[in-house]
Amino acid sequence: MTMTEDTNSRFLKACRGEPVDATPVWFMRQAGRYMKAYRDLKEKHTFLEMCKTPELATQVTMQPVNALNIDAAIIFADILLPLEPMGTGLEFSAGDGPVVPRPVKDAKAVEKLRPVNAEEQLGFVGDAIRMVRKEINGKVPLIGFAGAPFTLSSYMVEGGKSKDFTATKMMMFEAPEIWKQLMDKVCATLIDYLRMQVNAGAQALQIFDSWVGCVSPFDYEHYVLPYTKRVIDGVKDTGVPIINFSTGTSTMLNLVAKAGGDVISFDWRIHLDDAWKQVGFDQPIQGNLDPSILMAPLPVIKERVHDILKRAAGRPGHIFNLGHGIFQHTPVDHVKAVCDMVHEYRHE
Ligand code: CP3
Repeated sequence: MTMTEDTNSRFLKACRGEPVDATPVWFMRQAGRYMKAYRDLKEKHTFLEMCKTPELATQVTMQPVNALNIDAAIIFADILLPLEPMGTGLEFSAGDGPVVPRPVKDAKAVEKLRPVNAEEQLGFVGDAIRMVRKEINGKVPLIGFAGAPFTLSSYMVEGGKSKDFTATKMMMFEAPEIWKQLMDKVCATLIDYLRMQVNAGAQALQIFDSWVGCVSPFDYEHYVLPYTKRVIDGVKDTGVPIINFSTGTSTMLNLVAKAGGDVISFDWRIHLDDAWKQVGFDQPIQGNLDPSILMAPLPVIKERVHDILKRAAGRPGHIFNLGHGIFQHTPVDHVKAVCDMVHEYRHE
């Protein structure tokens, strides 16, 4: 496929708010453990090995592209990869999720964080992007991504996953100047990392603020928004569309939209049309099926998929997706069926 056909893809058109022949669809975490091909590869390699070996990352990125009728690919990587070059360490121990061995708890730890040169230290992600672009041959566009400053920092401060994010919030509340220094360093790394991905061939970028729904609108506005905005502003001139994704934020989508992004992506805790109205119908959006619905019987899936599409009402600028990543025990057939339901739907 030529360059022009690529930029005329449904996905990139919808990112720009242009009309499309059918609603584009892709799934967060569309590569992963729910697929047998992924589990087979995982028998032979660790997760980090797969991320750091461009041939393997390419293979995994292509698995859903080949198995499903999706309208975009997302590079196989992880939001936590920048933590290693920053100096906190990173481990994925089976079952416990990610572990950060040297968490950032105080001013000294923030000072010790190293500046990252993404081209040199995370170059394997760029190599994987170049390799996927070749292999995908214009079939669908490729999305690059990074964590948002809040979500990434929460792993750094907490040392792993968290329920209450108390340590992260206490840094904001008790030591706002340390929080600011941490955010300054994280933002610099994220901007460099995202720009490197676009230089390598990423055709859109998604910023994952998976856990920011734990903060109040007050704290979002004071301690989160300025930094998410800095990252988005810092990659704007690359010209690729930026998707600003978060969960648990349906009561403050107006603030989320203020941080910027060409597309606002939200979860299932709000009707799609209510969310769209909040951010404005001229703002492209992405969402918002509850990922657990993919495990329900097909008629239930169809009812919910159609409800979302009915609420989108044929307006231009809707990308169909989940409100968060696919669960491990999701039947691949159901994911396939959703692609067809979305593509076949016509608004009356
Ligand atoms: O979407 C895709 O297909 C691209 C790949 C992708 C992964 N992680 C692969 C992965 C993307 C976009 C991510 C983003 C990511 N990573 C986020 C933001 C999205 C979200 O789900 O909220 C977050 C918070 C992380 C951090 C992270 N990495 C977690 C919480 C876990 C799960 C740990 C576990 O054991 O469940 C990971 C590991 C991870 N990242 C896996 C995959 C496929 C599973 C690794 C395995 O096979 O064991």
